Amino acid sequence: MREYIKVARVEEVPKNGMKLVKVDNLEILLINIDGDFYAYDNWCPHMGYPLFFGKLEGYVLTCGFHYAKFDVKNGRPLNKTTEKPLRKIKLKKIGSDLVIQLTF
Ligand code: FES
Repeated sequence: MREYIKVARVEEVPKNGMKLVKVDNLEILLINIDGDFYAYDNWCPHMGYPLFFGKLEGYVLTCGFHYAKFDVKNGRPLNKTTEKPLRKIKLKKIGSDLVIQLTF
């Protein structure tokens, strides 16, 4: 099991917005919804295009390529474009730091 890795400070992820960070060879999408933070693998489970170019509306993230929609709270798909969920990454807020734990 890997230790937690600091990926950003809280203020670096815009409220109701996203920030892309790189850790090792992974691109990780950080999402801030009203101060609740989430982390997902940046690659869409539909065909692997980057989710960072998608659109965030409330808790719904829409991929910009074929419009798969996902629930940011749990990563589950919300339409028929794909049945695969987003790949969630363990994220913790420690003070004003956001840290992740890679388990895959
Ligand atoms: S790659 Fe995201 S919807 Fe197709």
